Amino acid sequence: MSQALLECADIQKSFGGVPVLKGITLDLQPGTVTALAGENGAGKSTLMKILYGMQAPDEGVMKVFGNEVHFAKPTDAIALGIGMVHQHFMLVSTMTVAENIVLGAEPGSEVALDLNKASTNIRKLSEEFKLAVNPHAVIEHLSVGQQQRVELLKALYRQARVLILDEPTAVLTPQEVDEFFAILRGMRQQGKTVVIITHKLSEVLAISDEVTVMRDGRVVGQVATKDTNAAELARMMVGREVLLRVEKPDADVGTTGLLVKNLSVSTSDGSKRVNGVSFEVRKGEILGIAGVEGNGQTELIEALAGLVTPAHLTGEIRLEGRDITRVDARSRRELGIAHIPEDRHRRGLLLDFSLAENSILGVHYRKPVVSTAGIFLDNQAIRKRAAQIIEDFDVRPTNQELPARALSGGNQQKLIIGREFDLRPKLLLVSQPTRGVDIGAIEFIHRKLVALRDEGCAVLLVSAELEEVTALADRLLIIHEGRIVGDVDPKVATIEEIGLLMTGGH
Ligand SMILES: Nc1ncnc2c1ncn2[C@@H]1O[C@H](COP(=O)(O)OP(=O)(O)O)[C@@H](O)[C@H]1O
Ligand SMILES: [Mg+2]
Repeated sequence: MSQALLECADIQKSFGGVPVLKGITLDLQPGTVTALAGENGAGKSTLMKILYGMQAPDEGVMKVFGNEVHFAKPTDAIALGIGMVHQHFMLVSTMTVAENIVLGAEPGSEVALDLNKASTNIRKLSEEFKLAVNPHAVIEHLSVGQQQRVELLKALYRQARVLILDEPTAVLTPQEVDEFFAILRGMRQQGKTVVIITHKLSEVLAISDEVTVMRDGRVVGQVATKDTNAAELARMMVGREVLLRVEKPDADVGTTGLLVKNLSVSTSDGSKRVNGVSFEVRKGEILGIAGVEGNGQTELIEALAGLVTPAHLTGEIRLEGRDITRVDARSRRELGIAHIPEDRHRRGLLLDFSLAENSILGVHYRKPVVSTAGIFLDNQAIRKRAAQIIEDFDVRPTNQELPARALSGGNQQKLIIGREFDLRPKLLLVSQPTRGVDIGAIEFIHRKLVALRDEGCAVLLVSAELEEVTALADRLLIIHEGRIVGDVDPKVATIEEIGLLMTGGH
């Protein structure tokens, strides 16, 4: 084996006396892609921040090409060829691509003078690494995928030999992920060392040469990707056997729960986001809607939940035969429509309110709950209900006085799901139920969705995760530019076929 480009031994780190890294040893070879996998809170980001000089280890040694190094700040790591792209991009949105790339790279120099030279360099790099982006474009006009390319270019511009990527695919569409992986393969070919953090097993298997699995501050597995599989990786990440396949008997389908006829939704500027959509969801089935994000899914679900002003909507929505097109959101909930929204921070939870308070959102009037904190409400009943949801849905920690903000994303999601299931809905509208959720919790959420279906609920599931939607759905519609462009049997259709329909192909 050649000498490691970057290695660390027995790295330890505590925050406020709580150990977060408990002795990590890792080495990275040139020209390889290493996946760093592990559930939320395992310590992946902390370890990478240490390798990038953003945080100092309490104990342990780091070496670059065999020489011990001590990074006091990221520029020390950058000087030795280590680059990092963070979970949240660090670009200045009002500046151009070239300005962002040069920014801070050449301290003390005249930025204006450098920009011409920089543009030429940026063009060269973008050709070499197939990172198409216009150096003169302003960041805020770029898509998330393009902004990520700018971050990569920024690292390459600084001559990074090691690229650390913290959950880079979380913000990308399936198509963008494919393009992104092609870029990473190109980098590997050029001898770069890539470390990619992800908790998606399919991505680990698709892109990496080596996998390091972390759990609870330790490395619990280091394997060559070709020698492992999804089940083994999941077991290492979670620390127990995990059922990766959704076990689901055939749907026992009843009468029509939801009927949507020729529904269109437009924005205030008049553009149509949902365009003449018709379908039905029967009781006891999960109808999936697959599509690249931004093709009308959000607007469709919001229209069904009653969150779109009637003026922006035409067509007909019926719940068990009853016309509810003009019924407001609260009344729809009372009629038996539950909603697990895609953006749990904006729509699902009040982050500064307790778990108990969040567990009754939308069940009682929102106003008294929010403004007078319990005066009009039966506190004991709330506590009992919250405790039940926390127990049934395995929300951790279990202290219902904690603000929702204190929970991890997966536990916040379990709280929302528990609250919505507790309505005993006739129709469940659910978007991206497992985004940002750990594998163990994904398995749990999937089981709960199937159980609700088997109780006779009509479930409408929107997910950008093709694997999820094909595994859960009994029937699958594909949405593209606001129209239903396909209706397939998820047991038969291939991911390629569905992917093609999603991009408007046939
Ligand atoms: N600056 C910090 N202060 C206190 N605790 C932190 C800090 N950064 C991370 N942690 C804690 O360290 C643990 C590991 O976090 P992190 O490295 O972000 O995990 P991962 O990236 O694997 O999800 C978590 O419990 C997190 O809450
Ligand atoms: Mg992280």
